[in-house]
Amino acid sequence: MGHTTPFSRGPLPVSPAAVDPALVPCRTLNSGAKIPAIGLGTFGSDRVPHREVAEAVRYAACIGYRHFDCASVYGNEAEIGASFERILADGVRREDLWITSKLWNDKHGEEDVLASCEQSLADLRLDYLDLYLIHWPFPNFHPPGCDVSSRSPDAKPYIHGNYMRTWRKMEELVDRGLVRHIGTSNMTIPKLKLVLRDARIKPAVNEMELHPHFQQPELFRFVLDNGMHPIGYCPIGSPGRPERDRTPQDTSPTEDSVIASIARRHGIHPALVCVKWAVQRGQVAIPFSTNPRHMLNNLLAVMSEPLAQEEMDAIAKLDRNCRLVKGQVFLWKDNQSWEDLWDPGGKITPP
Ligand SMILES: NC(=O)c1ccc[n+]([C@@H]2O[C@H](COP(=O)([O-])OP(=O)(O)OC[C@H]3O[C@@H](n4cnc5c(N)ncnc54)[C@H](OP(=O)(O)O)[C@@H]3O)[C@@H](O)[C@H]2O)c1
Repeated sequence: MGHTTPFSRGPLPVSPAAVDPALVPCRTLNSGAKIPAIGLGTFGSDRVPHREVAEAVRYAACIGYRHFDCASVYGNEAEIGASFERILADGVRREDLWITSKLWNDKHGEEDVLASCEQSLADLRLDYLDLYLIHWPFPNFHPPGCDVSSRSPDAKPYIHGNYMRTWRKMEELVDRGLVRHIGTSNMTIPKLKLVLRDARIKPAVNEMELHPHFQQPELFRFVLDNGMHPIGYCPIGSPGRPERDRTPQDTSPTEDSVIASIARRHGIHPALVCVKWAVQRGQVAIPFSTNPRHMLNNLLAVMSEPLAQEEMDAIAKLDRNCRLVKGQVFLWKDNQSWEDLWDPGGKITPP
């Protein structure tokens, strides 16, 4: 298709300035397990071919990444699985990798959870996952790549009883040894309160959008105070997301003048200020990249000179409550606003 990639012109770039994975900062989860504080995102959207993302995964492992954020809906788990097989064959121990996958929204049915997890394991060529997340709290199917105006005819709101039926099956995956941890994603405080109340195995993490223009301070604090760990997606503000996922109100943390001036002071790209800020603040960051230089720089960013306290304080003031991943396709009624998905006012939006 004429698409050239950093990897498509020949073999993997070798002998990069690899980082000792043992020196990459980790966070300790409630179970005592350690998760690398930076992982590689693997959502190529409709822009980056699956093979290129898979090559990036392999390259990332060469330079010291050990944490990979996958999902069945990204459509590339089979290609990434081939990379994991190579990574393990090259001598990386399975116990040194942290691999996350996610249950997609049309697989919330009790009979679907085990089969879906087994499919991800087969595609990824693994015996177990370190972390399995319910990707969204809404069981609504929409095809990958659809427009934000697309609606599922049988879309449903969050129904706690149904979510817990799915969660029970997630707990069973832990019991069966197929996954080591389970967690939530795209949740709100009122929803999490109910899950924490009713879960036999509490969520280990909540994956959520987090970047300097969308800091979610209340939810961030709630997650930590309740024994979970925040994993922040879109840490750079997702500059490569497709046009259909942009609105005129969206802002870009990498174009923020304060971030730019901090970047200049450190002699680094603004994206790296975002990555540093994320990990220094205490969330796990999962930046996506297939650019070898960006991948290495993102990893080095969390191992090099930290931001000064004044810089952290200045970034804390940049929050604009600017959610980029709004989730419009999950709306279940006409004339609803996407904000309804996020329980404004701290109460679950009624059906
Ligand atoms: N749980 C969920 O619902 C959910 C939702 C969204 C995303 N996610 C996960 O989070 C991951 C990250 O989110 P995202 O991909 O939307 O956004 P992101 O990581 O904020 O941004 C990725 C973009 O930043 C560029 N980039 C990366 N490092 C850079 C650097 N050092 N300098 C300049 N540009 C750089 C990348 O381009 P290059 O390739 O050119 O470097 C890519 O276009 C996803 O891949 C996925 O795994 C989860």
